[in-house]
Amino acid sequence: MATQLHKAIYFDDYQSEKGKAKSFALAFTEDEAELFKKVGQLSSYAIKKILKCDTYSVLKKKADRDGRSVNQYAKRIIAKHINKVDVPSFQTKDVTFGNSKDVPFQRWYPYIEGYSPSFVDALIDKYCPNAKLIYEPFAGTGTTIFSADHKGIPTLYSEVNPLLQVLIDTKISVMKLSSSKRQALASKLVNINDNMFAALAKTTPAENLRASYYRVFGKSVYFPEDQFEQVLRLKTIIDGIEKDGDLLLAKVLSVAVFSCLIPISYLKKQGDLRFKTEKERQNEMVIIQDILPEKIKVIIEDIQNCQVNIRLNHKLIQGNAKNIGKSSLKNKIDAVITSPPYLNGTNYFRNTKLELWFLSYLQSEDDLRLYRDEALTSGINDVKQEYSKQVNDLSSPLLDDTMMILDKQAYDRRIPLMARCYFREMHEVFQGLTKNLNDGADILVDLGDSIFSNVHIQTDLILLEIIEPLGFKLQSREILRQRRSRNGALLSQVLLVIKYKKV
Ligand SMILES: C[S@@+](CC[C@H](N)C(=O)[O-])C[C@H]1O[C@@H](n2cnc3c(N)ncnc32)[C@H](O)[C@@H]1O
Repeated sequence: MATQLHKAIYFDDYQSEKGKAKSFALAFTEDEAELFKKVGQLSSYAIKKILKCDTYSVLKKKADRDGRSVNQYAKRIIAKHINKVDVPSFQTKDVTFGNSKDVPFQRWYPYIEGYSPSFVDALIDKYCPNAKLIYEPFAGTGTTIFSADHKGIPTLYSEVNPLLQVLIDTKISVMKLSSSKRQALASKLVNINDNMFAALAKTTPAENLRASYYRVFGKSVYFPEDQFEQVLRLKTIIDGIEKDGDLLLAKVLSVAVFSCLIPISYLKKQGDLRFKTEKERQNEMVIIQDILPEKIKVIIEDIQNCQVNIRLNHKLIQGNAKNIGKSSLKNKIDAVITSPPYLNGTNYFRNTKLELWFLSYLQSEDDLRLYRDEALTSGINDVKQEYSKQVNDLSSPLLDDTMMILDKQAYDRRIPLMARCYFREMHEVFQGLTKNLNDGADILVDLGDSIFSNVHIQTDLILLEIIEPLGFKLQSREILRQRRSRNGALLSQVLLVIKYKKV
């Protein structure tokens, strides 16, 4: 039978025959593979724009009028108009974490804020194949680092969240091991996996971790009681391994355990961290006895079978990218590849509070706030009041206009302050960068815009305006993905390709 290729188009009003899916599958024959290749790279939104149909019912009506099936009609219109639209060079799955869930090592800790290694590979190939040193100011799970190594380029990086620093460091240490050391580490993990839960029954809970939980979270209950006890006992086992001197084994086990904390808790990460609903509690709660052995198996599989090796040096240069100007590098940076926090309300530290607690980075109620102050202001609770007193010396007519409207319209006076903080801090990072960049350096930034109080904040365009006087000039701007905000406004994720020229 001839192979059929499918492209799903999402319609709010579409119901598949099986009843659930809202995606209409556009079918292509092998002869239409060329058309499929182009369509495959477009988002549902872009395809609907070509079809001039927001809903399935309108599409169906048009097809009926034309005397064709929906499939035939849609392909006919798309084939006629596709050359008039810009087909992005990157696919949606590459610019979100979606593509990393199955990637060895990346899958150890799912971090939806991340982009995929294949996206970074493509960026390096296209824009900076000859770079001798890359800097990643907002490293997250380390995607840029691992891709750069794969391409033979060493990196420097910043990442303010110690949880992610631990994750990157652990992955790098494992990937640097010789084949025999990897096998030895894998054997130890197999052994632990076989015996851990039996040993756990005889292990005492880590009382210092219990005490810090109450100091940090007060009376909030995030875990079922028996699961909380298991987590405390796992910490005792890991502490023991660390005391015996096997630091890497302790770190790998820590990663495995902290990756399981949210699934076994009453919390869920959907955008931000929130409590699971009653229904989610019934359907989604899992226990550590089930998921930890599976997680360890995945890690063992990557350690044993995935011959990805780190060959070069990658160094955490400053935890906080705002301090990059305090470093004075002998070898300057040729390229920056990064996805900074979006101005979208994400509170990176609050979202990782369970993991940070488990790693003992949270000792008191204030610690979360202290970390949050270090991070780039991107959420309403991050705003720093001292900025309200500072004069706005950033040179951007677009920022001034946006602020004027936002000051009038924002339902919460922290919103304009948050936006001011964000751009001031981004400016600080780019200003610091100028001290350490080579003339002609390439800066590749994956960034999205936002809407607050019905005011569109064109984050990428404002950023370009404020950093231009520092010597950063836009070369190209490519839309990677588009989506609708809750109020129907169009939001874009873009790739900014910027060149630095010393001023
Ligand atoms: C969009 S995520 C980057 C994800 C990354 N591209 C990946 O693939 O995993 C932005 C990251 O910036 C980090 N961050 C926020 N403020 C920072 C700062 N001032 N310095 C360094 N990193 C910061 C956050 O902790 C978060 O991990």
